[in-house]
Amino acid sequence: MSLTDVRSAVYGQYVPRGTVPTSDILRIETSPLPTEVTGTDVLVKMLAAPINPSDMNQLEGTYGTQPPLPAVAGNEGIGIAVTVGPESTIKQDSLVIANNQGLGTWRTALLAPSSALYPLFGGAVSPADVDIPQLSTMVVNPCTAYLMLKELAPLKKGDVVAFNAASSQVGLHLAQLARHWGFRTLAIVRDGPNYDYHLTKLTEAGATWVVKEGYTSASVRALGVPPVALALNAVGGPSSEAMAKLLAPGATMATYGGLGKAPVMVPTPKLLFHGVIVRGFWLTKWLLDHPARVPDVYEDVSGLIRSGVIRADIKEVPFRGGDGLMEAVKEAYTPTRPGKTVMMMQQ
Ligand SMILES: NC(=O)c1ccc[n+]([C@@H]2O[C@H](COP(=O)([O-])OP(=O)(O)OC[C@H]3O[C@@H](n4cnc5c(N)ncnc54)[C@H](OP(=O)(O)O)[C@@H]3O)[C@@H](O)[C@H]2O)c1
Repeated sequence: MSLTDVRSAVYGQYVPRGTVPTSDILRIETSPLPTEVTGTDVLVKMLAAPINPSDMNQLEGTYGTQPPLPAVAGNEGIGIAVTVGPESTIKQDSLVIANNQGLGTWRTALLAPSSALYPLFGGAVSPADVDIPQLSTMVVNPCTAYLMLKELAPLKKGDVVAFNAASSQVGLHLAQLARHWGFRTLAIVRDGPNYDYHLTKLTEAGATWVVKEGYTSASVRALGVPPVALALNAVGGPSSEAMAKLLAPGATMATYGGLGKAPVMVPTPKLLFHGVIVRGFWLTKWLLDHPARVPDVYEDVSGLIRSGVIRADIKEVPFRGGDGLMEAVKEAYTPTRPGKTVMMMQQ
């Protein structure tokens, strides 16, 4: 598809909490392709953009960062720098990812300053030589899994990392990275029609043990799982309480998501007598707090994707100049759908 104009998914008001955006709230707008690219600006032809839970939260107005309305939806994505301004730090034809929250990636093309983009592989790789849908999701989920394993606890080979919502893409990447680095994993999945699918995926990803929500500490011990060194919670409520019971003395439980829409629960004795540490992790804040380390993380994570260590379970949906938007949204909002919806912006 050649670029003649820009088709963008725009919202001017929030979607009621927990509802699927309709085409009158999230609508396609057509605008002319920018003809002048000045200063550090870069004109990017978007290639792929995922639909993440955080994008859905932004559409509801409930996320930690909200763009002013009206806004183009989407925070993550990959594209190619087709025209660069005279002061751009990004070379023409570089493969770039969104480096900023709120860039508005659900559109066929965008104009952004060089600082809002990051050139992958030194700008020297052609889209034909890499897996574009995989790289389109590289920041939100792989970087979160990578940093939580690297930054939140001093893990040694053989240590056990437990995580709930293990059917999510973050869960899949936690299993893949933990295997790569020699940690053992206890992956906790809620029961449902796709349980067997998730069990197979997580086992292939290297999860050491996979259990269903509703387990007890005794049933986990009976599997031979030692006390947990790091627990990663994306659910809250009873799920976080059951996982906290598995923690070793002094171990950490970090909350990075609230899928269960319930407050985090931790048994009081774990805090009083076992000295466990309870904290949160938000990638957006980590990236803002550590600007000098971000390029190293992106290099490492994109390399891990390219070498196949990290592999997301992706469902590609063609954007069709905006005609495919509602199909992609419906797909992403289907509660038990497996995998991550990625919109292919030029198909
Ligand atoms: N803090 C951060 O910086 C950060 C960064 C990235 C992601 N996140 C968060 O991490 C979580 C996962 O994100 P993702 O993009 O990897 O998700 P995803 O791939 O879109 O999948 C979400 C998964 O969560 C499962 N799930 C939904 N509600 C659940 C519940 N109440 N209990 C257990 N499982 C549940 C669903 O499984 P079923 O098959 O059972 O429906 C689905 O597989 C989200 O909360 C997201 O906001 C946080």
